[in-house]
Amino acid sequence: MATYENLLLDLNNGILTITINRADKLNALNIDTIKEIKNAIQRVYDDTAVKGAIFTGSGPKAFVAGADISEIAELSEVNARSFAERGQEVFAMIERCNKPVIAAVNGFALGGGCELAMACHMRVASDNARFGQPEVNLGVIPGYGGTQRMTQLIGKGKAMELMMTGDMVSAEEAKALGLVNHVVPQEDLMPKCMEIMEKIMSKAPLAIGLVIECVNAVFNKDENGYQTEANSFARCCTSEDFVEGTNAFLEKRKPVFKGI
Ligand code: COA
Repeated sequence: MATYENLLLDLNNGILTITINRADKLNALNIDTIKEIKNAIQRVYDDTAVKGAIFTGSGPKAFVAGADISEIAELSEVNARSFAERGQEVFAMIERCNKPVIAAVNGFALGGGCELAMACHMRVASDNARFGQPEVNLGVIPGYGGTQRMTQLIGKGKAMELMMTGDMVSAEEAKALGLVNHVVPQEDLMPKCMEIMEKIMSKAPLAIGLVIECVNAVFNKDENGYQTEANSFARCCTSEDFVEGTNAFLEKRKPVFKGI
């Protein structure tokens, strides 16, 4: 089992909680933390005991306050490109994961933190959370997929405004924008995420993975999402869980899904 310097991993009831654990730096993502996130998300893919994952930040103040500015300040053109590409690759792994991934946003989600949250399949925020892409204040732009995913999530005009002004928005404003699914008091954040996760985990895992794949297909210009949907629908219909789900309905009982 991998050891982590900057993350805490806790597997409970099939849910892997991945906590970014640099509270003294407001959980800023240094390069080592990005590498560890890659390792942790690879575990979500590979470990059959893991049915879903929740990302959160340690402490009451921050989810993640961005990429680590002390490292960004040292970047040159060549290593800046690979810096962005490496982060993009890791966040794409999160987005494409065939198991549900929820961001439990417990405070500041700025820069790379907002990008991490947006790479997750959905976002639940505590009422003290603040979202933003303040990179322009530093003379840069988002580099971990933020320009793309924010535009997908909230639309062009609002994304342009947030990324050009660097303004932060509150959790409630983020919800109104469609950036966040739910806003709850901080003490209810993890229970709310667990509740959503447990509901998803009670469904057929293959179907859940294919919903993720089909929704992501919308944003892949090289893919015909309708064809992906039809293929995925057909794939579900060959599964044992489909037989179980339809039989259970007809027999007026709860289905027991096996993920096959
Ligand atoms: N990278 C590196 N360190 C960071 C950081 C980041 N993105 N965000 C916060 N920190 C560090 C601070 O330097 C400080 O460290 P120190 O105690 O060693 O000086 C510590 O975390 C606490 O932050 P501080 O700024 O004192 O907290 P605050 O409550 O006054 O302000 C923020 C909170 C989030 C508004 C402020 O930290 C901030 O603006 N952070 C940068 C956000 C950003 O631009 N992110 C995008 C980066 S590309």
